[in-house]
Amino acid sequence: MKKFLVVLLAILVVVAFAKVKITYFADNDPNGAEALLVRIFNAVHPDIQVEFIQVPWSTTDKHQMLVTRLGAKDPDPDVYLGDVIWPPEFAAAGWALKLDDYFPKSEREKYLPGVIDAVTYKGHIYAFPAFTDGGLLFYRKDLLEKYGYDHPPRTWDELVEMAQTILKGERAAGNKDLVGFVFQAAQYEGLVCDVLEYVWANGGEIIDGNGNIVSDDPKVVEAVKFVHDLIFKYKIAPESVLSFMEEDARQVFQQGKAIFMRNWPYAWSHANSPTSPVKGKVGIAPMPRGPHGSSGAATLGGWNIFVNAYSDHKKEAIEFAKWLTSEEAQLIRIIVRNNMPTRKDLYTNKVALSFNPDLEDFYKIMINAKPRPRTPIYPEVSDIMQRYFHAAVSGKMDPQKAIKEMTKELNELYEEYGLK
Ligand code: GLC
Repeated sequence: MKKFLVVLLAILVVVAFAKVKITYFADNDPNGAEALLVRIFNAVHPDIQVEFIQVPWSTTDKHQMLVTRLGAKDPDPDVYLGDVIWPPEFAAAGWALKLDDYFPKSEREKYLPGVIDAVTYKGHIYAFPAFTDGGLLFYRKDLLEKYGYDHPPRTWDELVEMAQTILKGERAAGNKDLVGFVFQAAQYEGLVCDVLEYVWANGGEIIDGNGNIVSDDPKVVEAVKFVHDLIFKYKIAPESVLSFMEEDARQVFQQGKAIFMRNWPYAWSHANSPTSPVKGKVGIAPMPRGPHGSSGAATLGGWNIFVNAYSDHKKEAIEFAKWLTSEEAQLIRIIVRNNMPTRKDLYTNKVALSFNPDLEDFYKIMINAKPRPRTPIYPEVSDIMQRYFHAAVSGKMDPQKAIKEMTKELNELYEEYGLK
């Protein structure tokens, strides 16, 4: 009997002190914001232990990893940081937990409208918005000033002219490593984001708001050709951009080896870090417009916290997800990584402004950012765009032919899914 009581007591002690273990899939940016947020949560939650699992940088690779797991109804990861383009697909597949209960009107109103739309599918909310993104033009204020330019480029022509003039002058002065412009043109989702900005900035569209495929348009061809020409005709971008993702471009720019860069807000925190060679020399502006457009365009990016519908620990997972999207966590992301908040109030928060005095300029670009097509078959749509955009931009295929064939494939895909 005594032995039995001792065993029972031991079991009770173990149960009382047992931690619920949950896993969190996210990429760790070079500044470590997500890992830090996990550490803080673990420190104040003795009953929950979150294990941070670092996944690849590329959103396309992350997507592949999760689709394999969730498709097999894997309860792991309990929580994951997911791209703004995933909610329709993950909701339709039943992989993302429905979160309407946590978003009464009073809560929804605290967020930027675009980010709530992005996590909503058929009237229900499927993720907690963590941070938002929009494509920006980063430029070297010191170099533009040196060559007499008093504003960043507003048009494609200005971009080319400024880059060529500065390159000529700097190379003649012995700055042989300098390039004009770096961006993301590897064959992955980032290329789609970049090219869409040129398409929209030239008055074109691939799939319109009503789901019609409208890409067979000279304005679209002209945009894709321009991206190709940046490399091969105007020679302001190095051929290496054809395999660049965000971090590749960021590193070149940060080393002081590029005049212009297209990237997301996070790159600003790195460029202005204490050890950065370009600290204090970097300006941001909207991407320039094309000859047929009325304004530049930014692709809406961003990341949301999803709770796995198959998680064995939904209660704890939700608690953790709420922390990751709280005002405090978003403030930490601004400080550590310059991730743009999804909660409106943070754009006027004094602490946030002391870390990024240009927050208002970022805000203007974020609220005007344009979403990619919202459909559960977005991965297939993107795969088609990735292939043809890369073929055209790299010179493997004539842009007109590429856009014609891309349009044909998109139409076939929509027919296959009965969307036409
Ligand atoms: C950024 C954006 C994301 C986009 C990705 C492409 O992470 O936030 O929405 O899909 O870049 O590389």
